Amino acid sequence: MSEDMLDRLLEKLDLVQKVRLLSGATTWRTAGEQAVGLREMVTSDGPAGVRGEAWDERLTSALLPSASAIGALWDEGLVEELGGLLASEAVRKGVDVVLAPTLNLHRTPLGGRHFECFSEDPVLTGRTGAALVRGIQAAGVAATAKHYVANDSETGRMHVDVRVSERVLREVYLAPFEAAVEAGVWLVMAGYNSVNGATMTASPLLAEPLKGDWGFDGVVVSDWGALRSTVEPALAALDLAMPGPQGPWAESLVRAVEDGLVPERAVDEKVRRLLRLAGRVGALGTSPRPRTPAFGPDDTRTLLRRTVAAGSVLLSNRAVLPLDPASLATVAVIGVHAGSPRLQGGGSAGVFPAHAVTPLDGIRARLEGLARVVHVPGPGLGVPPAPLGTGWCSDPRSGEPGVLLRLLDEAGHELHAEHRLSGRQLEPPVVPAARTVEISALVRPQAAGEWTFGIAGFGRMTLALDGRTVLDGAFPCTTDDPAVVHVNPPLHTVRTTLDTTQPVLLTARRELVPGAGRATVVAAAPPEPGAAAALAEAVGAARDADAVIVVVGTTEHTETEGHDRGDLRLGGHQDALVRAVAAVNRRTVAVVNSGGPVELPWRDEAGAVLLTWFPGQEAGTGLADVLFGDAEPGGRLPTTWAAALADAPVTHAHPVDGRLSYGEGVHIGHRAWLLTGRRPAYWFGHGLGYTTWEYGAVEAPAAVAEGSSFTVRVGLRNTGDRPGREVVQVYLARPRSAVERPARWFAGYAAVHAEAGAWASAVVEVPARALRHWSEAERSWRTEPGAYELLVGRSAGDLTWSGTLHLHDGVG
Ligand code: BGC
Repeated sequence: MSEDMLDRLLEKLDLVQKVRLLSGATTWRTAGEQAVGLREMVTSDGPAGVRGEAWDERLTSALLPSASAIGALWDEGLVEELGGLLASEAVRKGVDVVLAPTLNLHRTPLGGRHFECFSEDPVLTGRTGAALVRGIQAAGVAATAKHYVANDSETGRMHVDVRVSERVLREVYLAPFEAAVEAGVWLVMAGYNSVNGATMTASPLLAEPLKGDWGFDGVVVSDWGALRSTVEPALAALDLAMPGPQGPWAESLVRAVEDGLVPERAVDEKVRRLLRLAGRVGALGTSPRPRTPAFGPDDTRTLLRRTVAAGSVLLSNRAVLPLDPASLATVAVIGVHAGSPRLQGGGSAGVFPAHAVTPLDGIRARLEGLARVVHVPGPGLGVPPAPLGTGWCSDPRSGEPGVLLRLLDEAGHELHAEHRLSGRQLEPPVVPAARTVEISALVRPQAAGEWTFGIAGFGRMTLALDGRTVLDGAFPCTTDDPAVVHVNPPLHTVRTTLDTTQPVLLTARRELVPGAGRATVVAAAPPEPGAAAALAEAVGAARDADAVIVVVGTTEHTETEGHDRGDLRLGGHQDALVRAVAAVNRRTVAVVNSGGPVELPWRDEAGAVLLTWFPGQEAGTGLADVLFGDAEPGGRLPTTWAAALADAPVTHAHPVDGRLSYGEGVHIGHRAWLLTGRRPAYWFGHGLGYTTWEYGAVEAPAAVAEGSSFTVRVGLRNTGDRPGREVVQVYLARPRSAVERPARWFAGYAAVHAEAGAWASAVVEVPARALRHWSEAERSWRTEPGAYELLVGRSAGDLTWSGTLHLHDGVG
């Protein structure tokens, strides 16, 4: 769509029509306008899949591995393919705008949304994010770079004021967004937080560098509910307020223009951007629109299975992996997560997968007819109960697996009833006269004993068992965080003893009052077996097996949007479990199922340690491929992992008087570890494959002119006995610099494939930016001429070659 055409469309609209377009029509839709042939555009979270317009467990989506797993790929081609899958899902669900990728950084390992971000490093995050943007947008679906900017932790996220210098913003936190803009991203989402005193939806950073310096020509959309006033965001270059239709813009913005507080040309500029976006996604009358999803169910599964293996990071391996099925008669699969893995993180990114392969299912399928698989869950995790599902609950009316959802009027009469598959109901149908939402289920207890039941939501709630009230309370809403109010409200639990395994009718009710959100979650958990006996059972199975796969991980109570983590422990008795089984079986593989770093105090006791992150729907198939050597674990750590939280150089995420200081400056991630001289458990970039490599000659220029990129060529040989992939990394340092710098910083990488015994050449392109720093005095990128150290290796802590690179000013 040409700029002239946009101008002609704009001329057809009066002020009221234009302003109406600048707030959402609904929670997920933008407004349409017949006068210019504009239809509503549909947005959807992202990034783990495309949920579509409704939180409805019956409307399923492909579930990708978490962003931390995608950050571990170091493979932009594969990331682009995943972007294509997201676009295909968007097309299938009628979505125009995917609210992904998340480009915030792993600043602290405690970040609650760590799983949703790629990496601690601005360059790796930028390259990965740009690839995802390209993949999504190639199919005519918009991507959204979020959350602009410095929204790197959750504590007080709605109002925190991040204090960070201009140089650190430019070099670290803004850099991934700049890469996304260079990749042509069509939307940028302004976060809830403030930076240096200005709330992001009204921040000067929207104009500069985003729209000015970088030339971003797309739409700046607010995070959901982040718009706080009328005039400032309108002047500050925010374009679209979501959700809608109510909000601080709407009629108030019309008045602000009429009163001369906001120039009409500012409104025109926003509408022009919105129309440009509409043209791009095919929402304007004349533009074609992609209709057919590019991925069918089989392609989806194949790609996701490949991604699980490619993103899994093998931290250590004492000649245990890969396991040879021919050498195994019995395999013990241990851990609660083996049968009930954590497939995705909590919060707005959540989707409902159509199917999921657990680690246990994947291993069983791979070893079918080859070896016996024994599963022992071991001690329970000691976590709050999970939402009712189809396992041991049925709809009391139809008898179908699941629950009955009813809406009742003031007098308790039924207005609406439907069968649902989950006790987690975030968006019950809207029925105006409804005053109560009721979720009921016939629970078939597998065991008598002390059960835990729970209900989550806001307002007055009751829980009854066979008509006996066991919980009755008023729980007022005390937060404005939508991830808490609408997605993850606090759970209130009660314990009660069930004497028999007779079915019991569970009835949960929540009064529907304004301001209490729409979410109601009903949960139950059976009695947990005694930890000592469960541990002993696991040890017995491990001792009798030829190999042990023990799967440990975090839960939805630790890694979720809206909260930061309190510690990095696995929780429950999981550390004791790994220690105990590793002590009796040398061939113990510890599989870690977490979105972000956890402490692994037993890491030197296990035969192998493999990270699978939150692996998405193909968890088990991808894992089995890696365990039994059908695929290599391809991942490299996108973030440095501490042995213990206490060692981590940057952990603070708690605002003081509403402010969070990024006092560590440019020293984030491995840079901070290097600066403090501390040793992490595993460095950024670390990860083992199934073969070995010998690094040979490095070819790098001795000198480079200011403003030029340069190439580093590394020869390497696969010295093992199977094909493999190696990620060659390049770092830079400037020991005697006049400006403060990281001890060294990541500059680029390239991956090579080689057959056993073969040589390959890794060609690493280092952009000119890698040699620049931001000068606050001159408000521009500058370069210090002179000598830089160039380093090559396998991780930030394992560098096998170094040389000197002279940078000169390029004249003569
Ligand atoms: C999250 C965004 C998300 C939006 C819509 C917000 O609370 O921060 O990442 O896209 O909700 O669900």
